[in-house]
Amino acid sequence: MTKNVTVEKSKTSKIHDVDFDNLSFGSVYTDHMLVCDYVDGAWQTPKVIPYQPISLDPSAKIFHYGQSIFEGMKAYKDENGKAWLFRPLENFKRFNKSAKRLAIPELPESHFMDGLTTLLQVEKDWIPQNPGSSLYVRPFILASGNGFHASPADEYKFIIACAPSGAYFSGKVKVLIEEKYSRAANGGVGYAKAGGNYAGQFYPTQLAVEKGYQQVIWTDDNTHEYIEEAGAMNIFVRINDTLITGPTSDRILDGITRKSILQIAEDQGIATEVRKITVSEVVEAAKNGSLKEMFGAGTAAVVSPIAAFGYQGTDYELPELEQSYASQLKQYITDIQNNRIEDKFDWRYPVD
Ligand code: PLP
Ligand code: COI
Repeated sequence: MTKNVTVEKSKTSKIHDVDFDNLSFGSVYTDHMLVCDYVDGAWQTPKVIPYQPISLDPSAKIFHYGQSIFEGMKAYKDENGKAWLFRPLENFKRFNKSAKRLAIPELPESHFMDGLTTLLQVEKDWIPQNPGSSLYVRPFILASGNGFHASPADEYKFIIACAPSGAYFSGKVKVLIEEKYSRAANGGVGYAKAGGNYAGQFYPTQLAVEKGYQQVIWTDDNTHEYIEEAGAMNIFVRINDTLITGPTSDRILDGITRKSILQIAEDQGIATEVRKITVSEVVEAAKNGSLKEMFGAGTAAVVSPIAAFGYQGTDYELPELEQSYASQLKQYITDIQNNRIEDKFDWRYPVD
């Protein structure tokens, strides 16, 4: 077992109550969790303990000022039963970028990596082996320190919880290109995985869901003329044979799947462009038939083809291609994640 992490094993297990052949996304949790407190100006020793509720004072700042951040990762099990993570150091770096922006004390790398790997070693039996399933891993930090004063807390909790999970989306994905609301603004927190970024999306997304869409595609807050990203994934469009995604900025999450997909596409000889995408060019391309594909990319979403998008009251259907970039790229990235092919980019990270 890794050093500097204590382990208290649960006396019982819920694993036999779980139907691993019919997993939804993120709704059943494993037997253990990692907890690490920030008190007296320092992150303390991380502990693996039985999964349990946490107790917080009603004046804890998380409740009042939303000081919280999170990450999303997955653990995979290959056909020999060996467990893997995908580029976990990228999640660690982004976690600390988010922490800095939310005035949360940054976490030492060893607390994150040793805590993560120790927890996953304890929970190894929970990592699904069936295709399309994985163990979704959710590291997060919340402000546990008390006070109604609107200033950063003096105490925090870093927790990792895990949920064996299947696909994030069920069925075809239809998205609405947003014309009124915004997810993020220049100088804001859009690039951070701050809890409040997601809360702020719920209402406009509810309105979209009522109209039959699953996700909103956010546009820039200033003009609503440029495509930014979706609620839980970065967006790619294919116009003719070129795969295009918008540049990251302080409004857009620097997705690990996004940059991996770009690298794989380039390696496979697919023409790629990272540039601003206007809504009008996508609508025009949909009308003239040059818009071949749209898909989202993210840890939870993996690579999710978009079947149709709505804009200004009109729905535009995407063609169903027999050989799409989305399926080619999804196959390759999941083959790397599940140790089915050589890892030429050095992205796999052994858990055990
Ligand atoms: N954009 C948003 C808003 C997200 O929540 C996510 C998910 O983490 C992504 C993009 C994709 O990022 P990643 O590929 O690192 O999971
Ligand atoms: C992820 O893809 O891991 C995310 O964090 C997105 C989340 C909204 C499910």
